[in-house]
Amino acid sequence: MKKSVITGVGRYIPERVVTNFDLEKMMDTSDAWIRERTGIVERHFASAEDTTSLMGAKAAEKALSMAGLKAQDIDFIIFATLSPDFYFPGSGCSMQAHLGIPGIGAMDVRNQCSGFIYSIITADQFIKTGMYKRILIVGSERHSSGLNLTTEGRDIAVLFGDGAGAVVLEASDDENRGILTSKLHADGQYVKELWVQNPGSNSIPFTNHAMVDDGSIYPYMNGRYVFKHAVTNFPAVIFEVLADAGYTTKDVDLVIPHQANERITEAVQARLELPREKVFRNIDKYGNTTAASIPIAISEALDEGLIKQGSLVCLASFGSGFTWAATLLRW
Ligand code: UT7
Repeated sequence: MKKSVITGVGRYIPERVVTNFDLEKMMDTSDAWIRERTGIVERHFASAEDTTSLMGAKAAEKALSMAGLKAQDIDFIIFATLSPDFYFPGSGCSMQAHLGIPGIGAMDVRNQCSGFIYSIITADQFIKTGMYKRILIVGSERHSSGLNLTTEGRDIAVLFGDGAGAVVLEASDDENRGILTSKLHADGQYVKELWVQNPGSNSIPFTNHAMVDDGSIYPYMNGRYVFKHAVTNFPAVIFEVLADAGYTTKDVDLVIPHQANERITEAVQARLELPREKVFRNIDKYGNTTAASIPIAISEALDEGLIKQGSLVCLASFGSGFTWAATLLRW
């Protein structure tokens, strides 16, 4: 059976930096509060032109360049986002148009912070069955246009940032490389602990003034509840993939967790009993970019020389749904 190997990685971070001090001017918050609770120092907000699909295309172009491929070489697109350009159709279709490659299949994955891992695991199955050889997987988010950037929304607004990351996953005959094993989980009883209630087809009519007035168009999170589940499920799913592949934490070269919160990452690191340098973090610069955070992190880890040929790398996520997932790969 073919193995799925990441041959290209790219990121696109919009230019505009928004520091905690900038947020202090918009709402009643403080740099100290944000740093201490989350580890975030700054994040980037996209310009009006940089839509979710366009940022995805910009990251994809870099991933294609690293893989030595042209967009026309790609067989299929998987696009993960919780901030799509439109309610429908999916942003994978819009990005396909930006890349100028009509005809190939494009699908969106709606799994929030776990969206990238759900996507790469889906791509792995297409490659293993032989249906596709080269798949573009993109995580892109433009949170800034959907946040309540006033004191009322401060508990959520300070956490999120914009950006995009992309990987090219290719079929390989090399038995010693690529995705080794993966696990996906969800528990839908917690849907309302981290969600955007409106607009949606659950409301009749789909949109109305009341939902604008009552603020249910903005994300809601039961922060402490999410925190508690994250620090349990992150390590559990990492232990699960390691055990499945016959490894222990001692064998891992780098864990790349979804960048939700520095305190969650610290707790995961402690539970795994790993040294700090083996658990990647960049939340200080970008905040939580949900589906984009893992491909952005892979791209930076490569630039920093933290991933080398042969490295055992574990990607892991936890987020809204609740969903949590991990994949273990040999670079
Ligand atoms: O991928 C999953 C995404 N989500 C996460 O990873 C988040 C998980 N949760 C967390 O990391 C934490 O729950 C938060 C960082 C979101 C919040 O930290 P907390 O220690 O749970 O704070 P809290 O929500 O209990 O709020 C503590 C206080 C409250 O004031 P009072 O009631 O004690 O007077 C809040 O009103 O902090 C206040 N507060 C703020 N103050 C300044 C809430 N947001 C802010 C803010 N600036 N932005």
